Amino acid sequence: MKSEKKGFVWGHKHLLGLEYLTAQEITHILDTGESFKEVSRRNIKKVPTLRGKVVVNMFVEPSTRTRMSFSLAAKRLSADIVDFSPSLSSLSKGETVKDTARNIEAMGVDIVIIRHTAPGTAHMLSRIINASVINAGDGAHEHPSQGLLDIFTIRQKKGEIKGLKVAVVGDILHSRVARSNIWGLTKLGAEVIAVGPPTLIPEHIRDLGVRVSYDLDAVIPEIDVINILRIQLERQRSKFFPTVREYARLFGINSERLKRAKEDVLIMHPGPINRGVEITPDVADGKHSVILEQVANGLAIRMAILYLVKTAISE
Ligand code: CP
Repeated sequence: MKSEKKGFVWGHKHLLGLEYLTAQEITHILDTGESFKEVSRRNIKKVPTLRGKVVVNMFVEPSTRTRMSFSLAAKRLSADIVDFSPSLSSLSKGETVKDTARNIEAMGVDIVIIRHTAPGTAHMLSRIINASVINAGDGAHEHPSQGLLDIFTIRQKKGEIKGLKVAVVGDILHSRVARSNIWGLTKLGAEVIAVGPPTLIPEHIRDLGVRVSYDLDAVIPEIDVINILRIQLERQRSKFFPTVREYARLFGINSERLKRAKEDVLIMHPGPINRGVEITPDVADGKHSVILEQVANGLAIRMAILYLVKTAISE
């Protein structure tokens, strides 16, 4: 099950972001994910790795993919998994996330998976509870499991990450997926190009070693992977572009635009998709798209994450 590497010991009890991991640690998670992919191909897709451990899915913001994927990953590892619904919880009566987490922990929980609108929530919890904390997305900060499954999918399709040119296109300003991709991909030696309107690309992104382009058509011929971000209208408090139609015209990925891309370009999207805005339906479902493979790989990567944080608790 475990990817064996001489002299390497995983030492992180929490997974808070790819910013805090080395290239070797990221590669170790990807390699461990490969082992768990093999489990998903078996007739009986279950291993006893987390038997007796309790995992809580504490999603204080909507999710389809991440929540279900962590839930299924925990079940395949034989953990007891509890899904927490904020609207049915005492959060709706004014209890703080801190108090809720402490009360949940008092019931004997080993791993808390947290998604929250506020950046830094996972860090805060990791300081106040003894359980392992996994960041499933904190505001516009990081979404490490998504970054890892994206990089895993790219590695699977392209062989290696080093030397690739990856465009992250769209709403970089509000995107935790962009930040986790940038940390992970640059550490593994890819060149990342942030593409979008100037209003959606923060200046400081260049400090992370990222190239910036406001002209998608100019860069598209040199790109190996296009990771398309959702336009996050729910996080936008002011207008960042004149109209959705204008955005789609300049930065939407459509089949006409793809004619200028490399023959083997990969089209990725973390979901959920705004069809017809950042990507047209024919491209989302077309031959370059690996969007559903990303979702399938998410399960193996999340099994790897749960397994690795568990090894750190046990030692
Ligand atoms: N990619 C992603 O985080 O999707 P969900 O919001 O559905 O979890």
